[in-house]
Amino acid sequence: MAKKDVVEQVLSHYSGSIPQHVGIIMDGNGRWAQQKGMPRVYGHKKGVDSVREAVRFARKVGVKSLTLFAFSSENWKRPEDEVSGLMELFMLVLTREVNTLHKNNVKLKIVGDISAFSDKIQQKVASAHELTDSNTGLTLNVAANYGGRWDIVNAAKSIANDVQSGKLDPNSIDEALLGDRMSLAEQPELDLLIRTGGESRVSNFLLWQLAYAELHFTPIYWPDFDQLSFAQAIEAFAGTERRFGLTGEQVQRNEF
Ligand code: IPE
Ligand code: IPE
Ligand code: MG
Repeated sequence: MAKKDVVEQVLSHYSGSIPQHVGIIMDGNGRWAQQKGMPRVYGHKKGVDSVREAVRFARKVGVKSLTLFAFSSENWKRPEDEVSGLMELFMLVLTREVNTLHKNNVKLKIVGDISAFSDKIQQKVASAHELTDSNTGLTLNVAANYGGRWDIVNAAKSIANDVQSGKLDPNSIDEALLGDRMSLAEQPELDLLIRTGGESRVSNFLLWQLAYAELHFTPIYWPDFDQLSFAQAIEAFAGTERRFGLTGEQVQRNEF
């Protein structure tokens, strides 16, 4: 696929196979910077440009939800200067980008345990949620201090509270109910998970939600991930037969 007009090409070839919900583990910022002899935080800063591009691309091709892994619950263990650099960047992005997202009808949701962030960040998050809450275009979920296990534990706690107070019969607990208590409830099922940076692992991202997602691993470092790279992931997704446990013949006969 030529670099030019990637969006048009994706739309003309794969308009019937655009994933509704894409998750991205944006990995490789540190190595990208180190390769250039720069500090790791420089890679995180450049990564913000790739986020902008990914959002632009997702909007244009009609992805409904885009979920970006920005900071994991394990990333606090990094050196102090890197963590504080990431916090400053998070604050800057929340200050600078939210109005543009709002103008573009994007609904922004920060998912994760935000109580661990500074008051300033928490206030920015609250006002960004309020401002963009009724937007009807792309839903952009930014996972910050997020962990897939945390998400499941949270859902379990909320159900346990309802059982304890008599609001809920334990026999009525099923997959749909558990799913409804998790961070991305009410959004389409995760169709495609992309991880940049060359590792083939999930690193505690959307554990529950990726049950039937297609997985796309690319060696490209996140700061180099552009619209063409995103288009290639869509191309691979479009070329896969999703069987959801059925046989290939059943899927071809549309028996689901
Ligand atoms: C991902 O890039 C961004 C965050 C975890 C915040 P890394 O910082 O993990 O980059 P590498 O994997 O060390 O290259
Ligand atoms: C996953 O990347 C988290 C984010 C991209 C925010 P990591 O770089 O933290 O994952 P590991 O340490 O390689 O598993
Ligand atoms: Mg990494």
